[in-house]
Amino acid sequence: VIARVRIDGVAASTVPAADRGLAYGDGLFETLRVLAGRAPLWSLHMDRLAEGCRRLGMPAPDPQVLGDDVAAVCEGLDDAVVRLTWTRGVGPRGYAPPQPATGMRMVAAAPMPALDVVGVAQGIELFECATRLAIQPALAGIKHLNRLEQVLARHEWHDARYAEGLLCDMHGHPVCATAANLFAVIDGELLTPAVDRCGVAGVARRLVLGWFGDARQVELDRPTLDTADEVFLTSSIRGMLPVRAIGARRWQVGPIVRACQTRWRDLGMPWPVILEST
Ligand SMILES: Cc1ncc(COP(=O)(O)O)c(C=O)c1O
Repeated sequence: VIARVRIDGVAASTVPAADRGLAYGDGLFETLRVLAGRAPLWSLHMDRLAEGCRRLGMPAPDPQVLGDDVAAVCEGLDDAVVRLTWTRGVGPRGYAPPQPATGMRMVAAAPMPALDVVGVAQGIELFECATRLAIQPALAGIKHLNRLEQVLARHEWHDARYAEGLLCDMHGHPVCATAANLFAVIDGELLTPAVDRCGVAGVARRLVLGWFGDARQVELDRPTLDTADEVFLTSSIRGMLPVRAIGARRWQVGPIVRACQTRWRDLGMPWPVILEST
């Protein structure tokens, strides 16, 4: 059998009790799509991981070594979701980071779950979460291991009609979904909430910002979001998802998200063919 989890390069499924990722969430992760051994967005994931290490004052893992782990855990899978976890490693009791840190890498693969084809074609409905994102510029943007806000938010709804939830910051400004970034087309402009105070700088978000050079990163008001002509989510696993409803507000699928879906497919991501009804 092929080991789908490797820890520090060895088939294993247990981490040391003194690992700081477990004790304090002292580490980072990436979740990426791997197609027949190839990760189309690899360099973007490695960039964000390196930036996270810099921000947390941790050594960075060697992308080549990570790549070898990814290849090993994905053997035989055509379409996999890989979770790559990098912690500061084991340390003595207490918050003070060990110097130097050893680091611990865990790479785990699972088959990609079926895409929500109806959601991709017709849009998804968002639950409005009451959980607020705290303002913390020191952690904003990076994909650190502390995800309790997302866990609380995702625990707020159990109705399968909501594929995702809208998350706002402490001031009630929309920031993102629980595991995706948010875009809106307002007055002809493509906008996405800034992620310098909370939120994660998504890899798929960065792609969209690259495709649309005049897209802007802004602070969005909740009422302004309702004035949007188009709202959509981005995720490196689920791709480009139109938003069809938030509360009483309904949207048609718009041309910008359709353009994003086409470009997403052009990256080689398996993607349903959408037949537009006229
Ligand atoms: C909190 C959060 N924001 C945004 C994203 C989207 O990021 P990416 O495009 O890198 O998948 C994720 C992905 O899981 C996430 O967990």
